[in-house]
Amino acid sequence: MLKPDPTAGDTSWFVHDRFGMFVHWGLYALAARHEWVKSRERIDDKMYQRYFDHFNPDLYDPVTWAAAARDAGMKYVVLTTKHHEGFCLWDTQQTDYKAPNTPIGKDLLRPFVTAFREAGLRVGFYYSLIDWHHPDFPIDIFHPLRDREDAAELNQSRDIRKYAAYMREQVRELLTGYGPVDVIWYDFSYPGRVYRGLPGKGRNDWESEQLIQLTRELQPGIIVNNRLDLPAEHIDIYTPEQYQPREWVRVDGKPVVWEACQTFSGSWGYHRDEATWKSPEQLIQMLVNSVGSGGNLLMNVGPTGRGTLDDRALAALDVYAEWMRLHSRAIYGCTQSEFTPPADCHFTQNGNRLYLHIFSWPFRHIHIDGLSGKVEYAQLLNDASEIAILEPGGEASHVTPNVGEDSLTLEVPVAKPNVVVPVIELFLR
Ligand code: GLC
Repeated sequence: MLKPDPTAGDTSWFVHDRFGMFVHWGLYALAARHEWVKSRERIDDKMYQRYFDHFNPDLYDPVTWAAAARDAGMKYVVLTTKHHEGFCLWDTQQTDYKAPNTPIGKDLLRPFVTAFREAGLRVGFYYSLIDWHHPDFPIDIFHPLRDREDAAELNQSRDIRKYAAYMREQVRELLTGYGPVDVIWYDFSYPGRVYRGLPGKGRNDWESEQLIQLTRELQPGIIVNNRLDLPAEHIDIYTPEQYQPREWVRVDGKPVVWEACQTFSGSWGYHRDEATWKSPEQLIQMLVNSVGSGGNLLMNVGPTGRGTLDDRALAALDVYAEWMRLHSRAIYGCTQSEFTPPADCHFTQNGNRLYLHIFSWPFRHIHIDGLSGKVEYAQLLNDASEIAILEPGGEASHVTPNVGEDSLTLEVPVAKPNVVVPVIELFLR
């Protein structure tokens, strides 16, 4: 089985746990129309201030969020401590632009960290490299002021060196003030993206080498993602976004540790009117696809401005909870199998347990090439009911006239088991 080379961070727990929760929460929850609203609608600081002045998530109870994540089978969480809007959820000493200065009047990060740890999840911090509020952040292709005639002129007084130092001080706070942090998720770099003469940003702007050095010094085991615009030797995990790779992600031809990040509905931040919520089948299939291709899934929730997970998010989490209750051993500790699955199916594998995830329920028989003679026992995972194995040339071979010599045939019930994606557990010899 494929195994990526070790990196500086400790990914041993990560490749076992496989399933995490992403949380995008900030002032944009009040606009309720995407976390990029400030950029998309070119809203200046003065106009955006309304969200700061009214940010009062009075129903915020991270214990309930953590319980929902745990019940869904998620083993770790990554929270936006600061997103592109620049607003900080914690009581940072580097800026006034933070939760304690809004009507809610307190550090929102600390209770979050405590709640998730107590629920048994590992905790990671997302930290935006982009900052549309900091006065020293030069205007660029994504900045809300990008279309102002005097953008280049305004940039004269913006000093990216000061901003890079500001980031280091914030990261120092995050990595020293909240106990062990398992993941840091920096987001993101775009060095080549010039817009109307305004350059993009990358490692030289963020001073990424210094940032990563500080990160590793403060939290040696921490997992660092790939968005700092640094060479591969600094990177622990790769992060395909709103995209499902078909097979193990490779960099320079070598398999790497990777995590797909996905949304329930297209937007990361709370989006009231978003209509493209994924179906239960899609939700489970994305998890299976990730693990079956040797990766993780980081599934996002965007809590509301009241501090709640709305009913659609809770329903989606419930889909995972129900399925994982019966099928988690086809996820945890599993990876891409060396066997090729039959049509409409995916494999995950953990040692000599091979899991056949059936995306489209067939009529009575499933033929699997390359497995003849290799399976000792088969059962449906949801109820441990035996599944008959028909070998070529065996007593039931009259029902399987057209299968190859090396194929094995499973005889499944006509009615699909009442689970979103049925799984057959194959015990390999
Ligand atoms: C992005 C987006 C963003 C989101 C993130 C998650 O690059 O800018 O809003 O936080 O990716 O992957």
